[in-house]
Amino acid sequence: MTRLTVLTVPDPRLRLKAEPVAQVDDEIRTLMNNLMETMYADDGAGLAAVQVGIPKRVIVMDLTDHYPTLKPLKIANPEITWRSKETKVELEACLSVPDQCAPVERHLAIKVKYLDENNILQEIDAEDLLARCFQHEIDHLDGKVYIDYVSPLKRQILIQRAQKVVRMKK
Ligand code: NI
Repeated sequence: MTRLTVLTVPDPRLRLKAEPVAQVDDEIRTLMNNLMETMYADDGAGLAAVQVGIPKRVIVMDLTDHYPTLKPLKIANPEITWRSKETKVELEACLSVPDQCAPVERHLAIKVKYLDENNILQEIDAEDLLARCFQHEIDHLDGKVYIDYVSPLKRQILIQRAQKVVRMKK
């Protein structure tokens, strides 16, 4: 496996709309594994291929800390097929906005269909944190970052703080 470099705001590549994959083959499985390694190395709970500069609709998530029976998820072409009317506001963070967080309103529950690492179609009912993570990661595939949900002024501050963190880590 290879650890990849996570792009950070305001990198324009984070704004690309990702293309669906034709099928989950060895190339996509390798990408999924590399995303997993990168996510673990950076202590994240989710990562989208867009965040490493690969505009394909592929994401990985590991929420086993919160859902002990849920295995790490390797996901291609996710599609939200239902959204609850009820929403909830919680703090979110993102490896592309290092060391920052902000409150974001999300649908409390959703249904998602996707292809797993074996190219098998899966459908999952997600609530709370799992639903939030899916919405956050799927946003990345459409060129959206969670800071888009805060005011322009707050967004600028988050970007500046994240840039400072990146500079200090170099
Ligand atoms: Ni993110």
